[in-house]
Parts: sequence; C-alpha cells; structure tokens
Amino acid sequence: MSYENITTTQKERVHYITVNRPKQLNALNKATIQELHEALKSAEADENTRVVILTGSGEKAFVAGADIKEFADFDTENGKQLAAEGQKKLFDFIENLSKPVIAAVNGFALGGGLELAMASHIRIASDNAKLGLPEVSLGVIPGYGGTQRLSQLVGRGKAMELITTAGMISASDAQNWGLVNHVVPQEELMALAEKIALKICNNSGNAIKSAIKAVNANYQASVNGYEVEVAEFGNCFGTPEFIEGTTAFIEKRKPKFK
Ligand code: CAA
Repeated sequence: MSYENITTTQKERVHYITVNRPKQLNALNKATIQELHEALKSAEADENTRVVILTGSGEKAFVAGADIKEFADFDTENGKQLAAEGQKKLFDFIENLSKPVIAAVNGFALGGGLELAMASHIRIASDNAKLGLPEVSLGVIPGYGGTQRLSQLVGRGKAMELITTAGMISASDAQNWGLVNHVVPQEELMALAEKIALKICNNSGNAIKSAIKAVNANYQASVNGYEVEVAEFGNCFGTPEFIEGTTAFIEKRKPKFK
C-alpha cells in the first residue's frame, strides 16, 4: 500500500512506521491519522510482524501535535468529532493493538505527538527531545487522550502542572518522571528501539497479546483487571506457544516461537 504522509518498512519481524511530514514537524492531520490506522491494521494482521517501531522523520520532531492549521476554524461539533475519531482510529487503536508498539521519540513530542507516544506501549527518547501538552496555550485542551494517559503515567500532580503551564520538559526530566523509559543520543535511538524489539521477538506473541490486554484492563472503568488476568492466564494454557515455551524450559533449550 502506498501512503502520502507516512513511510513503512518491514525488517525481519519488526515493522517500522515513520510519520513523514517533516516540513510541518510531522503534525497529525486527518489524512495522516487515517494512514497510521491503515498501517497499524496491516501490521496487526501480518503474521510476520511481531512488534512495531513508530517514529518521526527528520531530526527535529517526533510529532509536533495535531495539525493546528487544519482545525483552526472548527466549531464545537467538528472539534468533538476530530477528537472522537482520532481517539478511535489511532490512539485507542494503538493502545489495544495485540503487538507492542515502541515510540522512538526523536525530537519534539507535543500535544497529539506526546499523546501518540503515550498511547504506545513503550517509549524511548533521544536526548534532544522535548515533551509537553501545550494545548491550553491555543485555547483548547488535549483531545487525543492526553488528560487521561499523562495522569496515568506520571500522576495527577505532575500532569496538572505540565498541562496547565503548557510547558515542555526535557527528555531527561521525562525519564525522571517515568514518561519515557530510556534516553540516548539521537544517533543511538533506533538501535535501542531495535534492541528492545528483538528481545520482544524472542517471546511468545500469543502471551504478549494476553499480557497487553491484562495490563490495559487496569485502566478501563467497569473492568476488573484481576479477572481479565485470570482469564488471559488460562487462555495461554494448551496453546502451541505455551507447549513450546514450557517444553523448551524442561529440555534446557531456547524456545522457538513461530
Ligand atoms: N500543526 C501545524 N503545523 C505545525 C505544527 C502543528 N502542530 N507544529 C509545527 N508546524 C509547522 C509550522 O507552522 C511551520 O510551518 P511553516 O514553515 O509553513 O510556517 C513548521 O511546522 C516549522 O515550525 P516552526 O517554524 O514553528 O518551528 P520552530 O522550531 O520555530 O518551533 C515548535 C518548533 C516549538 C514545535 C513549534 O512549531 C510549535 O510550537 N508547534 C506547535 C506545537 C503545539 O502547539 N502542538 C499542539 C497542537 S494541538 C493538539 O495537539 C490538539 C490535540 O491534542 C488533539
């Protein structure tokens, strides 16, 4: 499939998706959100893909937010629709993808850009990255899940400060806050993403799918995460990957998952 706003490549079992609007600092317009949805849907369906690495093109930005020029003349209804559609097609979609998505934050991750990283399962950043939710400086609030996921990741107090000040934090502060897992020089970012991706590839894809579902259940109202964990734990038993994993342990060899 050919895209206008993103590029995709597959290397062995890792699928790479790059937001490719460098002149607009990779801002997310509706067309880009649709293309990211399509690319993630095919990565999910592709048996060869075990993990996705998501990044931005150029050295300056991961994603500098939703495309401000696209929504500047929207009214209330258009605004609600923008947020609802975006959340469904991209942000909730990533969070619930059965394969881990690693956000390699290679520069500015602002507004929708930080929201995109926060919806991903794992976040790593280059040391030049700047992160923030500056929406209130535009007279709007984060609309792609930022008010919820930032509080979940860093706690309500820090989330309130970052959101109400519309400030930006450095990659090293983001690491101290628990917002990103690792910070490395920009030229080492993709190598680190690949190192994490390859570790994931060694494990059972079926069990990883269950683990993502169980972890996410903790953040869903009206769902008992412990019950989801019990159900998903049970679902793993008897599967070919469970049989391979446990047999390999007993036979003192490394498992070979398909
Ligand atoms: N939307 C549209 N275009 C954007 C953009 C965005 N979010 N961010 C940057 N651009 C464009 C700029 O308009 C500029 O284009 P032109 O050359 O055509 O004028 C180009 O990218 C380069 O940007 P700057 O000249 O501003 O670059 P800079 O180095 O001086 O500043 C920056 C970099 C601090 C990231 C600055 O671009 C900036 O503040 N961007 C906006 C960040 C922002 O407010 N993001 C939140 C968006 S709202 C949102 O995301 C809502 C939501 O939750 C759903």
